[in-house]
Order: sequence, then structure tokens, then C-alpha cells
Amino acid sequence: MSLYPMGELLRDAQKKRYGIGYFNTVNLEMVRACIRAAEACRAPIIIGTAEALLPYAELEWIAPVLLEQARRAKVPVAVHLDHAYHFDVLMRALRCGFGSVMYDGSREASHADNVARSAQLVRIAHAMGAGVECELGSVGGLSDENGRADAVVYTEPDDARTFLEETGADFLAVSIGTAHGIYTAPPRLDLPRLHQIRAAVSAPLVLHGGSGLSDADFQATVAGGICKINVFTDVILAAKQALCAAPENTYLDAVKAAEAAMAKAVEDKLCLFGSAGRA
Ligand code: 13P
Repeated sequence: MSLYPMGELLRDAQKKRYGIGYFNTVNLEMVRACIRAAEACRAPIIIGTAEALLPYAELEWIAPVLLEQARRAKVPVAVHLDHAYHFDVLMRALRCGFGSVMYDGSREASHADNVARSAQLVRIAHAMGAGVECELGSVGGLSDENGRADAVVYTEPDDARTFLEETGADFLAVSIGTAHGIYTAPPRLDLPRLHQIRAAVSAPLVLHGGSGLSDADFQATVAGGICKINVFTDVILAAKQALCAAPENTYLDAVKAAEAAMAKAVEDKLCLFGSAGRA
């Protein structure tokens, strides 16, 4: 049995102080690249998709692919839904069998709304045996339905404690200076803030915007208590590079080359996070 609840993987990572990679996927090649990479370096891994990616792969189509590939893997794999904003999407994911879901309430009109909706989701998800990741503050860099980029709002350590008490969320995504997508200037991480959050709460902490960070950034954030790191942009950039490097490839060879490049990018991250050899 290699399909695990995310909480079980993250609790081990938290105890032994390493990071587990989370990777978004929209097709079989991406799912296979992640699992190949994890098996190659014997690392646990978390795979899934996100609400913004559903135009590329319908939830009810990608879910069985994720779950079946996870069950067949030779390493522990958790299946998770990343950044969802709408309750219908979250409910569909839970019904499809995702072991955990992320409710991103950072676009709610107020903090009180974020707390109320997060708490409501936690009650439902827990009743269905699933875990919940929530975001407090805003990592930024994602675009909303109108194409506006989310603003960056740092997570306040005291708010993190009360938010988790009020909502019962299992995992907390923190905003400490990373952003989603390609950085236009080198990110400056607020590590003292991370240490304060870590001291204030016991839930596993999640770092979004894992592309474009330095090796030292990863070492410092994992040492500071991060145990799940989300990566997307670097993986699709690796695929694009492989496709552009050999435009003469047939479609089949192009797909194969892209999968190999993504597997290499994922494996590099898993080694950096310290999860290689943990499975
Ligand atoms: P990047 O695309 O910056 O790697 O961020 C991924 C992410 O945080 C998904 O939630």
C-alpha cells in the first residue's frame, strides 16, 4: 500500500526535519515523472492538481490517474488538491478520493470569512477522513479570475496560532517572502518570522512558491520547520526546455523527453529537500 494520507507523511518529515515535495500535475506524463523521480531517490512525495489547473485536466479525470499511480508506486505517495477557492471544487475533490485538500481563503473579503469557511471545510473533510491545508496571509503571485495578481501579505505568528485553534486546520501554508511563479527579483525570506510561527503552532508548515529559490533558502526553511514545499513552475520550465531543445522530435519522442526532464527536475528538488532515502 503506497497511497498515504498527507498528514502521516508530513508528521514523519516534521519529526525528522526534512521537507517533502508537492507537485502539481495535469496529465499522465507529469504524474509519472513525479513518481519515477520519487522512486529513483527513494523519497516520499505528494502529488495532485489545483483549481486553476482544472481547464487543463478535469478533476474527475485526473483524480483516478493520481490515485492509481500512487497505489502502484514503490514509495509512499499522498494525493492532495492544491489552492481551491470554491466549495463545489473542494467537495468534488473529496468525493473523488483526494486524501487532503487546500482551501485558499486568502481572497475572502475578511479574515473572519476566511476563518468561518476554513472551519466549515475542516468539519466536512474530517468527517470524510480527509485532511485540510489552509493559508493565512497570502503568498501572492497567483492570478484571480479577473487576471489580477494576489498581493503578498505576510503571516503573523500570533494570528497563525488563533487561526489554527479556530479552524482546526491540519496544515498551515505560511507567507514568509516566497511567491508563486517566476521571480523578477531574488526573494528575501523572512526567516525570523518563520521561526516565530514554528514556535507558535504545532501543525506541519507548508512553503508555497518553491520554484526559483536557492539551495540555501531550502536548507534554511526546512531547518526552520517547513516540511512540505510546493513546486510547479520549475517543473514545467524543464519540460519546455526539453521540448524546445529538440523541435525535430516526433510528438511521441517529445512527450518522452519532456517527461524525462520533469523527472530530473523533481528528483533534484527531492534531494535538496532532504527527502531522498526516507522511503
Ligand atoms: P511555483 O510555481 O512558484 O513553484 O509555486 C508552486 C506552488 O506553490 C503551488 O501551490
